Amino acid sequence: MTQPSLTFRPMLKSDLEQVTAVEQQSAEHPWRKAHFSDSLTSGYTCELAVLDGRIVGHCVMMTVAGEASILILTVDQSFQRRGIGRQLLQHMLQKAGQSGCNTILLEVRRSNIKAFNLYLHEGFSEIGIRKNYYPMGNHREDAIVMAMEIHRL
Ligand SMILES: CC(C)(COP(=O)(O)OP(=O)(O)OC[C@H]1O[C@@H](n2cnc3c(N)ncnc32)[C@H](O)[C@@H]1OP(=O)(O)O)[C@@H](O)C(=O)NCCC(=O)NCCS
Repeated sequence: MTQPSLTFRPMLKSDLEQVTAVEQQSAEHPWRKAHFSDSLTSGYTCELAVLDGRIVGHCVMMTVAGEASILILTVDQSFQRRGIGRQLLQHMLQKAGQSGCNTILLEVRRSNIKAFNLYLHEGFSEIGIRKNYYPMGNHREDAIVMAMEIHRL
């Protein structure tokens, strides 16, 4: 039997409902529809991972002056731990390289071990801490700032 294959494509306005649904179900601190909509309007790189016709992941990246920043990366909860996050991240690295970026940056909550491990294993290094950066219930949480040099493809 043929295995369904993972493909990538740009996010469209018509995907917003589905992307927001995946985000709400899968992320602990989800983005709202307006965040994705604004990202599309701003011309950010908004990419989807699609498995057998179903949207299973999304990522938004901003590129400014040779530097790319990943703003969000989420994999559908029911499809996590199957290598999709890694492949989507690699796809974004390729996109950043193609856009002429030399560096890619991101921030991750200190408590988000899954995401921290993903980024670390894909070659990111911790370059700093933003103290009390994210709201977390009635207190705040540090952001770990991570970066990686991109070897252009
Ligand atoms: C973080 C996230 C994108 C990872 O996606 P995924 O498809 O499950 O990840 P993969 O299957 O590609 O795993 C890649 C690596 O991530 C790390 N990882 C993923 N899930 C993990 C878990 N439950 N515990 C520890 N490490 C984990 C591991 O290093 C893993 O490599 P390994 O399987 O060889 O050990 C996903 O968990 C997610 O969408 N979380 C909610 C949203 C979020 O927190 N996004 C990040 C915002 S900065």
